[in-house]
Amino acid sequence: MADGRNVYAAILAGGSGTRMGNPEKPKQFLMLGDKPILAHTVEKFCAVGLFDSIAILCPEPWMQQTRDLLRRYCPDCCDKIAVEAGGATRNDTVRNAISYFCENSKVDENSILVTHDAVRPFVSHRIIEENVRAAIEFGACDTVVPATDTIVQSDDGAFISAIPDRSKLYQGQTPQSFNLLELKQLMSSLSSDEEAILTDACKIYTLRGRKVALVRGDVSNMKITYPHDLRVASALMGNSRA
Ligand code: CTP
Repeated sequence: MADGRNVYAAILAGGSGTRMGNPEKPKQFLMLGDKPILAHTVEKFCAVGLFDSIAILCPEPWMQQTRDLLRRYCPDCCDKIAVEAGGATRNDTVRNAISYFCENSKVDENSILVTHDAVRPFVSHRIIEENVRAAIEFGACDTVVPATDTIVQSDDGAFISAIPDRSKLYQGQTPQSFNLLELKQLMSSLSSDEEAILTDACKIYTLRGRKVALVRGDVSNMKITYPHDLRVASALMGNSRA
């Protein structure tokens, strides 16, 4: 399926999880059922068997803990996984992943990078495979689900400015996947103003008028952000004790 290309995965685990209210431990290291959230996510990427190399980008003080976690929970795929330091922002973490693969792997103009939030442990094989396929075919893709709530736009936080047509709205998930060298080039081309409004890598493509294909996500591919999400995730894992 990867057609002889090198396909890489970056598991973005560099966040601090302040909204989880658990500052002594970033949420990606919290237990979900029988193993940490990060281990579930890594397992999915290993099991799909598509990646030449996988990098986990985590906060620098957590690098050793991450290596220990891999040895304990993901012993079968440790040899393909590197643990690297994340950055101050999510985009900086993506940049660190790009640098890691450029310096340590056989990156060429056909290489694909799949980026995924460590805190989305329910990502499916289908979603990962469709990301690789779409990144090969279109150069960039984002995983989305149709918006279910009405989205209300307010420019001042007090009154409604607009209510966009819901049928055209989607909620962004991850993975987001790219031709690696094209992503590198676009990320390095940003002005400081653009950098400030950049909330995710796909936005760079749209800023530059490039096409980003949609991959169908799944409501179960949830992001664990708040304590409530961890309770929902535990229930989904078949463990409602949390
Ligand atoms: N992330 C990252 N590097 C950062 C910030 C975030 O790799 N500097 C990762 C997180 O680890 C997570 C994903 O991006 O897997 C989504 O981040 P999010 O949950 O929005 O941010 P956190 O910083 O983890 O949490 P919070 O905003 O509540 O502090």
